[in-house]
Amino acid sequence: MNELIADPLHSLNKEQTEQREEKEQERQIYHQQQLQLQQQQQQYSNSNSNNNSNGFEQKRILKNVARVYRDVNENQPKESYDYENYRINWKDVSRYEIIQKIGRGKYSEVFSGIDINTDDEVVIKVLKPVQKLKIQREIKILESLDGGTNIIPLLDYVKDPLSKVCSLVFPFVNKTDIRELVNYLEDYDIRYYMFELLKAIDYTHSKGIIHRDIKPLNIAIDHSKRKLFLLDWGLAEFYHPFKNYNVRVASRHYKPPELLVNMYDYDYSLDMWSFGCLFAGLILDRDPFFAGENNNNQLLKIVKVLGTDDLYKFLDKFGLSLTEEQSQMIKPRQKSSWERFIPYENEDIATPDAIDFLDKLLRYDPTERLTAKEAMEHKYFDVLKSRDNSINLNK
Ligand SMILES: Nc1ncnc2c1ncn2[C@@H]1O[C@H](COP(=O)(O)OP(=O)(O)O)[C@@H](O)[C@H]1O
Ligand SMILES: [Mg+2]
Repeated sequence: MNELIADPLHSLNKEQTEQREEKEQERQIYHQQQLQLQQQQQQYSNSNSNNNSNGFEQKRILKNVARVYRDVNENQPKESYDYENYRINWKDVSRYEIIQKIGRGKYSEVFSGIDINTDDEVVIKVLKPVQKLKIQREIKILESLDGGTNIIPLLDYVKDPLSKVCSLVFPFVNKTDIRELVNYLEDYDIRYYMFELLKAIDYTHSKGIIHRDIKPLNIAIDHSKRKLFLLDWGLAEFYHPFKNYNVRVASRHYKPPELLVNMYDYDYSLDMWSFGCLFAGLILDRDPFFAGENNNNQLLKIVKVLGTDDLYKFLDKFGLSLTEEQSQMIKPRQKSSWERFIPYENEDIATPDAIDFLDKLLRYDPTERLTAKEAMEHKYFDVLKSRDNSINLNK
């Protein structure tokens, strides 16, 4: 009897101990990396009197952790985020008929098609042969986000038994590229779609997931239905505090500074930078807003707008350093005012509130950026809420 009671407790304790050990290991790896980094910094500043921190002392090494939704995954059973051990039960491909090619990404070819059981129009994302793990991750994430506001729902996943080609099936969105759409959208509609996008981003983060590839091409808007979907979960990842991630994510023009200076412990705020770039592109009629030709040039393009003072403050705070090539390339620079980027024709949409909103998104320091929730509370969106209220009141 005693044994029966003791057993589940024992296995619970074992699980907790294992989890604790895993976390401790992660912390130790992190500290080792930080030590190496410190040594590298030391060597670098010894060998280079022109050190990158512009006279700032390296005061402390601070670990970056998400300000919100930090322990979402830690509070879930392991199966909910463990895509590595996730077995996919591929379905029969013959249910779908391809109509025509409609898109192409880095990792897939996308076709419109028909579900012959229902006659529904679908999109078939045929995955290029990539690592099995990446496919497991994309499916696991889409399943975790199922039913989320403005998240493209995954209808099915199928495998051709002969070619072994894997495909994901989604509902077809009759979309217009947001960069074209913006030319005939009213100010109100831009705010509306940005708010819809933030709903999707906040939902994603609330489920412990970082999208890691927010950009115009990964958004589908069906303007006739006033519906927006966030697409492409191929680079998305589960967030765990103290975990070091791959910095080779996101499309170059939407990459935040932390990726460009090899900060491995980034978090959800990565998406808020990319969102900020997308927003800047729309309201300032300049997409991509930071049009770097390679990763170092991308950082330079950012510095030319945000200046060097805040860059060095960010690097010093987290004990990060620039590569030698980067420090040679980056010269001291003042932060520009956002107003100088507003084209005459855009004065009606790049309002003071829009600029204030943008300024609070595009910050070097990830902890200074608005979170998706905070962004939704910004006064830029007040007009949507007041119109909603007046509609409700009139009902
Ligand atoms: N459900 C959909 N409805 C309409 N177009 C889509 C849909 N899903 C994807 N697309 C189009 O296909 C392109 C590539 O799909 P995406 O999921 O982004 O794949 P990749 O990972 O290869 O970039 C998208 O940029 C978009 O234009
Ligand atoms: Mg894509």
